[in-house]
Amino acid sequence: MCGIIGFTGSGDAREIILDGLKRLEYRGYDSAGIAIQNKNEIDMVKAQGKVDNLISLSNKNNKLDGHCGIGHTRWATHGVPSDVNAHPHMSTDGKFAIVHNGIIENYAEIKSKLIEKGVKFLSETDTEVIVQLLDYYYDGDLKKTLVKTTSMLEGSYAIGVLCADYPGTIFAAKVASPLIIGVGVGENYFASDITAFVSRTKNVIDLDDYEFAEITKDKVTIFDHNFKEIKKEERKITWDVAAAEKSGYEHFMLKEIMEQPAALKATIEPRVKDGKVNFDELGIDIKKYDRILITACGSAYYAGCVGRDVIEKLCRIHVHTEVASELRYRDPIIDEKTLVLVISQSGETADTIAAIKEVQSKGADVVAIVNVVGSTIAKLANYTIYTWAGPEIAVATTKGYTTQVAVLYMFAVWAAFKLGRIDENKMEEYTSNIVSLPERAQRTLDLNTRVKKLADKYHEKQSIFFIGRYLDYAVCLEGSLKLKEISYIHSEAYAAGELKHGTIALIEKGRLVVSVCCYEPLLDKIISNIQQVKARGAQVLALAIEGNKKIFSEADDVLLVPKANELFMAAVEIIPLQLFAYYVAKNNKCDIDKPKNLAKSVTVE
Ligand code: F6R
Repeated sequence: MCGIIGFTGSGDAREIILDGLKRLEYRGYDSAGIAIQNKNEIDMVKAQGKVDNLISLSNKNNKLDGHCGIGHTRWATHGVPSDVNAHPHMSTDGKFAIVHNGIIENYAEIKSKLIEKGVKFLSETDTEVIVQLLDYYYDGDLKKTLVKTTSMLEGSYAIGVLCADYPGTIFAAKVASPLIIGVGVGENYFASDITAFVSRTKNVIDLDDYEFAEITKDKVTIFDHNFKEIKKEERKITWDVAAAEKSGYEHFMLKEIMEQPAALKATIEPRVKDGKVNFDELGIDIKKYDRILITACGSAYYAGCVGRDVIEKLCRIHVHTEVASELRYRDPIIDEKTLVLVISQSGETADTIAAIKEVQSKGADVVAIVNVVGSTIAKLANYTIYTWAGPEIAVATTKGYTTQVAVLYMFAVWAAFKLGRIDENKMEEYTSNIVSLPERAQRTLDLNTRVKKLADKYHEKQSIFFIGRYLDYAVCLEGSLKLKEISYIHSEAYAAGELKHGTIALIEKGRLVVSVCCYEPLLDKIISNIQQVKARGAQVLALAIEGNKKIFSEADDVLLVPKANELFMAAVEIIPLQLFAYYVAKNNKCDIDKPKNLAKSVTVE
């Protein structure tokens, strides 16, 4: 979703901010803009479409000359994508420019009051009310005006402000939308995420809700609404800038698929001691709970579906899954005996955050499985388990998903041991299955060329079904989502046993049915489903386990993945399906890293 960067220093602000905006492109956007402060003037350029449009327009504008400025990539919420609705927004007199992420829920009310007072609005955005309010209340003291203005806003915001009266200073404030400050040498930044400035500094300060920042090239001052200064710790980003670059790959998605063995290793190894999974340091008293609820959105939810099956199987505790966007409004029955596992790559998904607040208000404890360190979800949770996948730039998650599944496996095994459901031998056996994941993922990546050929064969299909049973069905949900979101091909995932209750009506000659057959205890069942769709003319691409000879006489094409205990296959099974989605989308010339209408981090409802 929208991206923000602010810079102050001695360098060329235009160049640095445009570079930051390029790095924020992955979040998904439809227009972009930049404002630069030059002595006591602010100049601005905005453009609908790609950052490259903005770059060529900016290059023609020699007024964008200065050492301090703000930039934004917009994902439209209020008002169509257009030059006028793009950020930054300026006050009518040109004194203020602001960029904003989030949604101002009471903007209509504020707007009509300001219009009554004679203020003229240019755009259809909710954001413009902030800049007009700043201008309306400004009495020469920007800190005071900023506090007063934000106190009138309802909803969520991360804002960056330039004021013509404060050369060399950028201001920021936030509530329920991420904003971090980058601390450099003789230059400082703010941004919606680290990727915007990680090539220039790795030292960051997290701005918390209801905090404000006044940033010059040599000083960062954080204060609260009483103007009391707040001392904040700096933290250092551990990943390298190369992690946020393509490093020779054509797309971030392919790079991130290929990084999965390393991401799994980084996630698993620190949690294994003496051949056993160990989450003791979290301090969770697992015996306290009589049920587990897993909630998340999209792929993270599908990772949760894998987790549900494995946790319930091993721990013999009731595990329920629900998408966060439904859970938040359903008044679910939850109490202090419910442990809620919340899963999120970005740690900023609005519905997931709302679900956390809902379950915590009912007394539940929350364990967050999250990738972005210091994110809102990581901070809200009672316990946080990080997936160490590194930055994920492609909108479609890959290594984010597999590392979430790995954490859920580890959690299941650890909890089962603590609950006395498995003995030490089983604990060691299951742990060794989990420890083998990186190596199995690496071997699965050897299917790359073969999957590419299958994508060449099948990329013109109009509709593709995925079927599987039990854990394989959970993997189908993710495989189908991957395909539809980046290739725009209609796709559905079905529990194979459900086919004959309706969906089989859609199976006809030439329909491709991807059949996931890795949960071997149910192999005969899925084979009979394959026979049912074949009998109606479908083509079948089967995913099965090495050594499975039977499948060759049933399916048109077969992909085999390395064998392990059937409970711990999903994190590997998904890899050929990710590759399949990638190459189908590539064949169809889709914008793989930035699929249409999608954003990396869904920070609005
Ligand atoms: C799909 C995808 C999304 C996310 C979902 C949740 O490839 O990436 O479905 O999984 O938007 O996002 P996070 O995990 O950041 O909460």
